[in-house]
Amino acid sequence: MRILGIVGSPRRNGNTEILMHEALKPATDSGCETEMFFLSEREVAPCDACGICFKTGSCVVKDDMQELYGMMARADGIIIGSPVYFGSVSSQAKAVMDRTFALLAKRSLQDKVAGALVVTRRVGAIQARSLIYSFCIAHGMMVAGGAIGYGREPGDVLEGVGGGINMSAVDEARLLGKNVVRLAGRLSGDASS
Ligand SMILES: Cc1cc2nc3c(=O)[nH]c(=O)nc-3n(C[C@H](O)[C@H](O)[C@H](O)COP(=O)(O)O)c2cc1C
Repeated sequence: MRILGIVGSPRRNGNTEILMHEALKPATDSGCETEMFFLSEREVAPCDACGICFKTGSCVVKDDMQELYGMMARADGIIIGSPVYFGSVSSQAKAVMDRTFALLAKRSLQDKVAGALVVTRRVGAIQARSLIYSFCIAHGMMVAGGAIGYGREPGDVLEGVGGGINMSAVDEARLLGKNVVRLAGRLSGDASS
């Protein structure tokens, strides 16, 4: 199985990336292939609403989203990670979400397993996580869960609590990764998952 982590922060080595590494650890440990896509290093333009993709199933905007379409198609599980910006996801993460409009007509993400990973300094995590959940459900993906981390400076999330009860952010991220793998395994008919 293959699990993809999309890191929606414009900041390389930031908190979202740190927790994404933790979320993907259970996947590598259980023998899955993992891939990461860093929006800090890529150009993904916003959807320009040309409407061509809804007729053809492919997006005509030639940027790094073209590579991500392939990565998403190959993945059994996709974890979308974003910092909280003004109570929402980053514009980089939102651009990716909007550009997947091209995948809706053919329901290309249907039945893939999804996870949401958000990092905030203080507030807005639930809204951002809900937004990612809604996006995944719109595509017919199976949401395995989410993880929340708190922090401002890169690395803060390694010390802090998660969004749930009695769990650190690191443990929550790892549990998210474990659940994504488990659900993807069950959907693929792997009885041991
Ligand atoms: C433009 C911008 C908007 C932000 N908005 C919020 C916010 O609404 N609530 C909050 O608690 N933190 C907010 N933050 C703080 C980030 O969520 C926080 O620093 C996070 O750790 C960044 O993740 P990263 O290291 O992966 O980039 C904002 C930061 C920026 C740059």
